[in-house]
Amino acid sequence: SIGPVADLPIVNAKISPDGFEKMAILAGGSHPGPTITGNKGDTFKINVTNHLHDDHMLQATTVHWHGLFQRHQNQMDGLAFVTQCPITPNNSFLYNFNVGSQVGTYWYHSHYGVQYCDGLRGPLIIYDPEDPYRFFYDIDDESTIITLMDWYHLPSPQVQRQVTPDSVLINGIGRYDGGPEMPYAVINVQPWKRYRIRLLNMACKPNYIFSMDKHKFTIIEVDGEYVDPLEVDSIQIYASQRYSFILETNQPVDNYWIHADPNTGTNATAILRYSGAPQGLPKNRTEPSMLPMNETNLHPLTTLDLSEMSPSRDLFKEEADVKLNLILGKNMTTYNFLINGFQYMSPSMPVLMQLLSGAMTASDLAPNGSVYTLPRNKVIEISMPPDDAPGRPHPFHLHGHKFAVIRSAGSSAYNYINPVMRDTVSTGVPGDNVTIRFVTDNPGPWMLHCHIDWHLYVGMAIVFAEAPEEVSVDQPVNSASKQLCPVYNDMPKET
Ligand code: C2O
Ligand code: CU
Repeated sequence: SIGPVADLPIVNAKISPDGFEKMAILAGGSHPGPTITGNKGDTFKINVTNHLHDDHMLQATTVHWHGLFQRHQNQMDGLAFVTQCPITPNNSFLYNFNVGSQVGTYWYHSHYGVQYCDGLRGPLIIYDPEDPYRFFYDIDDESTIITLMDWYHLPSPQVQRQVTPDSVLINGIGRYDGGPEMPYAVINVQPWKRYRIRLLNMACKPNYIFSMDKHKFTIIEVDGEYVDPLEVDSIQIYASQRYSFILETNQPVDNYWIHADPNTGTNATAILRYSGAPQGLPKNRTEPSMLPMNETNLHPLTTLDLSEMSPSRDLFKEEADVKLNLILGKNMTTYNFLINGFQYMSPSMPVLMQLLSGAMTASDLAPNGSVYTLPRNKVIEISMPPDDAPGRPHPFHLHGHKFAVIRSAGSSAYNYINPVMRDTVSTGVPGDNVTIRFVTDNPGPWMLHCHIDWHLYVGMAIVFAEAPEEVSVDQPVNSASKQLCPVYNDMPKET
């Protein structure tokens, strides 16, 4: 792992995570990229240098730090055409940000085109010296990370219409139909220990049902927020979500299958290996999950006083100050996605620069129809009935905030008392009306979008201009970027 002060070169390199060799776009030369770690309160200084040159792929780039609030430092959010111009080849950008009181499991990825699907993604962990669970559960080891990803054999600009990934990767390794028998990823454990395991869905598309034969998990963290411990035996995890769970290695010394069953693509497996077990494969699979995680059973941690972390009480007053209903739709001629009738298209001047140069109202801000201004310090309630948008369920992510999930997919109940706080939520299927709330305590332009990267690419996004008159940044923005982003021809060649 690297950081919090580190160089992160973005390079083209050929890799074969599933046995098929493909040119990729990689952070630090590996897939996933190096885990970036730091402690609560740290200032991260990640110098991203762009060495991309392959002309079948995107060559400009940005890096987004998924789930970090970037308070007073919106210009470090890494969102192309919202907070910055893309970093063109042979240039660099210093991402210099303080993480404040945020702790837990995050990740970073390109936020330019569909570039992270070609490999630019990696975990970001913020350790908490006062982690309430470390002592409470007597955790022996918290070094294990399990990443779930999807992989495509064509460069991402050419796979827009491909509905199914060629393979599903667990910790960077997978198999494709007709491909070689790649080795399985192995998670090595000692018997009779307690592990805190971090599970990240860094896919461009699928959600996964994750389980380990004969083992239960106790969930303690959701998207960087501590939750009351919840025992489950499987977790359905959507693109960009994260969980930490405690795994007790209380089964006989042996090998056990780990499963990641995607909603699209071929099921993937890995091996949980107790030390002392033979190097071979697990023998059998247990019964199906009897105790699947249900989002409505997740609640912010109440057993210990973590006032800084717990959601503002205001969130739960009876009526929200501002209510927004977002109708997700699709233009069946162009296949582009629409939110309230508008397809999001990147503006040529980043929204942050538009705000800093004095544009304040939704009608003055580009892209037309996709920017919503929100007043400062209000409770915003958003409901998302997914009635008309194929490709569901859509996992929606909000930048700059955690939100309370007042109504979850698969449930008709509204929880105003102790809803889970997270940064990505599934909007479910017809009949659902997923409802979230957040407080506008972080001025800046923040995107709300589907985290299926192919859907974002064809318009499934809006931007909140939050407290536009109070938008300021604590470091000078390069004056050159106050203009239009330099025209840079980034049209990849067909292979
Ligand atoms: Cu993972 Cu717009 O972000
Ligand atoms: Cu979507």
